[in-house]
Amino acid sequence: MSMNQSRVTEFVLLGLSSSKKLQPFLFLIFSLLYLSILLGNFLIILTVTSDSRLHTPMYFLLANLSFIDICVASFATPKMIADFLVEHKTISFEACLVQIFCVHQFAGSEMVILVSMAYDRYVAICKPLHYMTIMNRRVCIILVLVPWCVGFIHTTSQLAFTVNLPFCGPNLVDSFFCDLPLVTKLACIDTYVVSLLIVADSGFLSLSSFLLLVVSYTVILITVRNRSSASMAKARSTLTAHITVVVLFFGPCIFIYVWPFSGYSVDKVLAVFYTIFTPILNPVIYTLRNKEMKAAMSKLKSRYLKLGQVSAVLRNILFSGNRINL
Ligand SMILES: *[C@@H]1O[C@H](CO)[C@@H](O)[C@H](O)[C@H]1NC(C)=O
Repeated sequence: MSMNQSRVTEFVLLGLSSSKKLQPFLFLIFSLLYLSILLGNFLIILTVTSDSRLHTPMYFLLANLSFIDICVASFATPKMIADFLVEHKTISFEACLVQIFCVHQFAGSEMVILVSMAYDRYVAICKPLHYMTIMNRRVCIILVLVPWCVGFIHTTSQLAFTVNLPFCGPNLVDSFFCDLPLVTKLACIDTYVVSLLIVADSGFLSLSSFLLLVVSYTVILITVRNRSSASMAKARSTLTAHITVVVLFFGPCIFIYVWPFSGYSVDKVLAVFYTIFTPILNPVIYTLRNKEMKAAMSKLKSRYLKLGQVSAVLRNILFSGNRINL
């Protein structure tokens, strides 16, 4: 690479919307959405870790999904929210690479942990008598670690294609974070092969996880079809929840990476789905409809209420003590 060639040191993000009037409104909406993502998912993690009745593989996986959701929602959203307030939205070259690394690490992990959760449900529903022996502590840890490893292999292989691309001029990224199809488009060489490799890599991961999910849900549905209507109803409500998440998460990912005709401005709206809507939906879907989870949460609440009462009593004592001193 010659020394006098100008190199891009920062990218300009065009953001979600170019309308100036919309910016304060979007700032408010997305701040609230992000806050509820953090609250909802931290609440799930807190509930699962603090209640020993929820120390089962299903809830451990759920808490781990919540953790990944927080990561998925946090690598780009805070910057996007802050960017609503500034006109010139820039991001350094290195930060851009970090965002690319994060989106593929976290989204990859999320895809695979959904497969882990489907496997857990498959064992619970189709092999109920062997559930405890199959899903032992070791298997549980493997089901949590494999998503992170697969995500890491996926994201480093993607970055390997990109990190050495020459960027010499154009630096407008038409989205609210850096992602591969948009950034490779800006390179100063023909990126046809690189784009193809990226589509193959992301496409392979999302399509194969998706197929695994479809297969496991189909097997579960076929298994419960011949059972009592009560177990069928229970399984169906669990599965509807899982399938909603899967469609909302995989739909946009597969569309962006695999569908060759998608326009880039559609892509950034779709990116909102998997960076914001899915992380918000998981707490809603998995907690509001789940009796055990609701019971654990009200127990948690009464515990904190008691703590609150104790502190109120203490405050009263201190306060009246003050008054006596006066
Ligand atoms: C994730 O799963 C592991 C293994 O089951 C568990 O020990 C851990 O507490 C879980 N993490 C969270 C954040 O709940």
